[in-house]
This record gives sequence, structure tokens and C-alpha cells, in this order.
Amino acid sequence: MIPFERPRRLRRNESWRDAVRETVLRPSDLVLPLFAVPGEGVRQPVESMPGVHRSSPDEIVAEVGRARAAGVRTVLLFGVPDHKHDDGRGAWDAQGPVPAAIRALRDAHPDVLIWADVCLCEYTSHGHCGLLTDRGEVDNDASLPLLSRTAVAYAEAGAHAVAPSDMMDGRVGAIREALDERGHTETAIVSYAVKYASAFYGPFRDAADSAPAHGDRRGYQMDPANAREALREARLDLEEGADVIMVKPAGHYLDVLSAVARESDRPMAAYQVSGEYAALKAAGERGWIDADRAIDESLLCIRRAGADLIVTYAAIEVAERLKRLHSTPFR
Ligand code: PBG
Repeated sequence: MIPFERPRRLRRNESWRDAVRETVLRPSDLVLPLFAVPGEGVRQPVESMPGVHRSSPDEIVAEVGRARAAGVRTVLLFGVPDHKHDDGRGAWDAQGPVPAAIRALRDAHPDVLIWADVCLCEYTSHGHCGLLTDRGEVDNDASLPLLSRTAVAYAEAGAHAVAPSDMMDGRVGAIREALDERGHTETAIVSYAVKYASAFYGPFRDAADSAPAHGDRRGYQMDPANAREALREARLDLEEGADVIMVKPAGHYLDVLSAVARESDRPMAAYQVSGEYAALKAAGERGWIDADRAIDESLLCIRRAGADLIVTYAAIEVAERLKRLHSTPFR
């Protein structure tokens, strides 16, 4: 029997493969997360995330220079403050590391989009994402004004977007209202609409020193078992005015990403989180996989599933590889 259908015809060489490729990844699809610390000349490697550092604003400017040279146009800032408080008040301190980094970036790289993560967990002494009640539970409604205040502080420093990652109910609406009241109508909200209580955030919590001192985040982040609930979370954030919605983590949640992307009339982002990145890097260091190829593949698959934008710690290296690839006419 001679096969009649021969899908392999279109796979025989790179010209064919290139011609029929459905999904492409561009450097400008990538968003680089950065950890801002106070001071000057500080660049501390994060042990569990090879290639990732905690940097002072001047070093962040240098890092974003490298990102921009590779074609990455968007960054996502997290703050790691010197001091933590019960109410997380460092989050909205205009002199804190995030507003300082935003101002430095606006000056040095005017064409780079600056997203600022909005959450209290890096700033609270207990490590939870909101205020605690006397019983030690996260108080949703009492946290909203603090998150709004934080978002306004970042908008005032010059952030193009604020990215609430706390998972309190109603925070997108509260933040939108607070921004608009103060004239920040052009500041976008990139909402972590669908954020799971994931074991893959481990290395981030080392980097940001934000592990909860007691309990875990399952009382406010989503159960990895649930996909329908993701549609509800996404719908609520879209109704409350989110400009971009995000699914997080990415790699193990492609079904969720794809379902949410079908329902959303706005751009979709996905976050390849610290544990996804660390696992790929670690296997690569052991020689068990080709980490460069595996990382490129992981991002292409996240695009294919429906993400317009991908937050990844590998943004610079991937963008550099993409650039090399496209400067080679025949490969
Ligand atoms: C803050 C926040 C976290 C991440 C992004 N924003 C940590 C958490 O929820 O515990 C995780 C990102 C990563 O793992 O790369 N709430």
C-alpha cells in the first residue's frame, strides 16, 4: 500500500518547515521579570535561578539595556525591600526600590514598557499577599485600599502598567477606580487573573524573600485541579477593566490558557514561572536535556496555546537566539 496522504512532504527541509509554520515567537512577545533592591551597584545572583539577579536601579538599567538590544521591549518589576512591616507599607513607598527603578528606566530607556507587579507579599513581615485579620487570615476587603495605593504609587513613578498578583477579589476594579481618580487613566492593568496555588513558585520566593511565614496561599490562589473556575476569574477581571489578563504558571496550564484565550477579547499573557525556568535550567546543567532548545520549545508551545505575551526569566537569552536565527538566511 502506497500512502496517499503524506504530511511529511511539508517537513522535508527548513524552507518547507519555515513556509508552513503556524506559530512564531518574536523577541517583542517576551516580558523580562526583574527584582529590584535598594542601593547602587548591587547585583546579587539568585542561586536557584541561574542568570537571574537581584539588582539596584542602576544595574536594572544596564540589564534592560541588554534586553532592549536583543529586542525585548517589556519588563515586569518586583521589589525586594530592606525592611518588612505587618501591613506591607513598603509596597507604596515612593522611595522604595520599585518606584526608583521605574524612574531610572523611564529616563534611560523611554521606549521600554514598564509593568510593576502589585502585591504585598514581598513587603509584609508574614509573607502573605494582603493584610491579616486578628485570626491570621488574609482580609480581602481591607487589603484592597493598600493594593490600590501601591498601584497609584507605581503609576505616579511612571509605570505603563500595574500587574496585581495578589488574587484578592475585586482588586482590579478597586485599582482601576483609584488610578482613574488620580488622573492615571492611561495606566494599564495587566491582571494575574488566573493564578494557581503552585509549587512552581519556590525559586521566586527565595529571590523575593516572600514565602508565607505560616500556612500557604491556597486560601486565595486557585486550586490546580480547576479549569472552569479560570473562566470565571478571567471574566470577572475583564468586567472589572483589566487590559491584559494573565494565566500563571504557564507550561502545565496550557489547557487553561487555551480555554481562557478563546473567551477573552483582550490580549493574553502567560507567566513561565520561576520553578518552570529553574527545572529546565537544572536539567540542562546536568546534561540531561538541551536547555536552550527545551526553553525555546516551551515558549513556542505557550504561544501556540494562546499567549500573546510571555513573561519569562529566559527573555534575554531567547531573544538573542531568535535574533541569531533570523540573521541566518538558510539553516
Ligand atoms: C507575588 C508573586 C509571586 C509570583 C509572582 N508574583 C509569588 C507567589 O504568589 O507566591 C511568582 C512568580 C514566579 O514564581 O516566577 N504574589
